[in-house]
This record gives sequence, C-alpha cells and structure tokens, in this order.
Amino acid sequence: MTTVKINASTPYDVIIGTNLLDTCGELSTRVIKPCKTCIVTDDTVAALYLDRAKKSLTNAGYDVISFVFPHGEASKNTATLIKLLEFLAKNRLTRSDCMVALGGGVVGDMCGFAAAVYLRGIKFIQIPTTLLAAVDSSVGGKTGVDLVAGKNLAGAFHQPSLVICDYSTLNTLPENIFADGCAEVIKYGVINDKAFFDSLRMGIRPQIESVIAECIRNKRDVVEEDEFDSGKRQLLNLGHTVGHAVEACSNFEISHGNAVAIGMVTVMRAAVKCGICPEADLNSLICSLRREGLPTECPFKADEIFEAATADKKRQGDKITLVIPYSIGDSRLVTMTLTELSDFIAKGLSK
Ligand code: NAD
Ligand code: GLY
Repeated sequence: MTTVKINASTPYDVIIGTNLLDTCGELSTRVIKPCKTCIVTDDTVAALYLDRAKKSLTNAGYDVISFVFPHGEASKNTATLIKLLEFLAKNRLTRSDCMVALGGGVVGDMCGFAAAVYLRGIKFIQIPTTLLAAVDSSVGGKTGVDLVAGKNLAGAFHQPSLVICDYSTLNTLPENIFADGCAEVIKYGVINDKAFFDSLRMGIRPQIESVIAECIRNKRDVVEEDEFDSGKRQLLNLGHTVGHAVEACSNFEISHGNAVAIGMVTVMRAAVKCGICPEADLNSLICSLRREGLPTECPFKADEIFEAATADKKRQGDKITLVIPYSIGDSRLVTMTLTELSDFIAKGLSK
C-alpha cells in the first residue's frame, strides 16, 4: 500500500492498494466520523462494486444510501446533477454528512460537484475505478458537469477528504478504457518526468501501484503550486487542445484517451518540425503509446482540427495557450495567435 499526501487548500491522502474496497469504511473513519453517506456511482460500476463498498461503510458505522445513474459522458449533465441534489435533500443529508464517488471520472466529477454545491458544500471521498480517474480526475479538486454548449462548462474546485484507489478494480475494465488511462499516464512523463517515461518501457500493468503513485505525485506537484488553474496546471492539458478537436471531429467515436494520444503526437511532431524538439523523442513517444495499444495517427485534416480546436468556448480572444514538448520531460506553455496555431497544427499533421 502507498500513501501520497496532497497539500492543497484542504490537505488529504491518496491511499493506493489492492482490495481496499473491503476496508473503505474503516479507512473513511480516519477522516470523516460515521454519518449518513450517499454513494454515487453508475450502473456498470454499481453491478460490480456497490455492494462491497456499501457493506464496508455500513460495518464501519455509516448510514449508507446510494444514487446510481446510467454510465457514460451523456449522463454528466445538469439534469443528473439536479436529480442527485434533490435525492440528497429528500434523504435529509446535513452539512455534517458526506458523499462517496465510486467510479470513473464521470462519477467523480458529478459527485464532487454535487458535494461542492449541496448546502454550499459537504465532504466527499473519491474511490476511482478507472485508470484515468486513479491517475488524474480523482485528485486535484476539479469537479463539474457538461453543458449543451460544451464539456465541463459548469463546475467548482472542491477537494475530496480522501482518495481510496483500489487498483484491483481496474481488472474488470475493458482493454480500451484501460488504454485511455494509459495516455494520461504517458502524458505525465512527457510533461516533466523523463525517468518516469523511461520506466514505462516495462509496461504499465506489471508495475501498476508504482505507476499510479508516480502519476499522483506528479499531479500533486502541479496542484500544490497552482490549485486554481491560473498557470502551471495548464501543463496537464498536454495533447488536449488537439485531442478535444479529434474527439469532436469524430463525433465522440474516438475516446478521450485515444484522442489525447493523437494530440500529443501531433504537437510533438510540430515541435520537431519547428526544430525545438529532437526527432528521437517523437519516436520514443510513438513507441510508448503503441505499446499500450493507443493510436498515433490523426484521421482528420489540419483545417478540420483547427476549426474544432478554435470552437472551444474556453478560448480567450484571438490567442490560445498550447502545451508544447521541447523534449520528453520538458513541456512548456506557449501562447500563440490563431494563425500561428493553424500553422502549428498543419506542421503536426504533415508527414
Ligand atoms: P467514465 O467514468 O465514463 O468511465 C468509463 C467507463 O468505464 C464507464 O462506462 C464506466 O461505467 C466504466 N467503468 C468504470 N469503472 C469500471 C471498472 N472498474 N470495471 C468496468 N467498467 C468500469 O470515464 P473516465 O474515462 O473514467 O473519465 C472521463 C471523465 O473524467 C470525463 O468526463 C472527463 O471530463 C473527466 N475528467 C476529469 C478530470 C478532473 O480533473 N476532474 C480530469 C480528467 C478527466
Ligand atoms: N486534468 C486536468 C486538471 O486536473 O487540471
């Protein structure tokens, strides 16, 4: 078992280990004394893990209720959020009660946002069950839902009180969903940790506990410096500007992690063409992504990607900040005009 401490505005531990689901109740009592708790999960995860989580929390003295919604990004919206908030109110949760997010990033974002706004904020615990949630979304306090106008447009910063990462739950993940998380794992190496990137040559699954712990330490370093996302935290968006555009161009047929993999290759290839990144690093990135079954070629044209990338509602004026790898382990924030971005994407997608 590994514990990583996060010194955010509200400090908390991330506990990483195997079969922790059966002791999640006891672990939770270290930070929140037994109270009424609402486990939030989706239907797929509920069928696999809800009973075990419920049993452990009940045995530890919690009065447990559960809210289950249909799996998938389509549920991460204001309609589900309102149903959840009404459910909490109907069951009379008070400010001294808490919530538990049991699932992937969709569940974590939804439960965390409900916890942030219900009675102006109650405590919650994250129990991630996807690799992406384990290495990224369960830590750092970004919560939220999608609006019709775009992804994650309504949200709040609300740190969990504890993260319990039971990586044995990852054994039931379909291969493609595990691979999506691998893209985020590789991303940490490319951003600022070459030694970690190199260690991934041994594969991610055989060293899963240390891989998750190292990703969390990397995320911790960024979050502790820029919790509210006004600078350095944007580095975590490596591959995401092009990645989001790939997702949109494919009508979301291409999953997030697959799109981020394509996005990372595109920006690194552009950096190589600009003479600011060694070609050998691009080849290493492509090998690393392929080893985990991720795509590296973009099926869309540069102008399609540019159009989709600049439709992003979060863009500021006629400038955009992109994360550019100067080498593996040295990625930097670069603000550019839309004309420069268009040129950069064209370089990244030409052979
Ligand atoms: P997800 O939560 O939709 O999970 C993917 C699928 O896997 C779902 O169908 C789910 O039911 C299933 N699943 C989950 N755990 C399982 C298990 N152990 N076994 C079998 N099936 C399981 O998606 P995700 O990839 O975990 O998260 C994506 C979401 O995370 C997006 O909404 C994204 O915006 C958000 N996100 C948030 C942050 C943040 O900092 N808050 C960071 C990155 C991503
Ligand atoms: N995954 C992006 C962030 O937490 O900032």
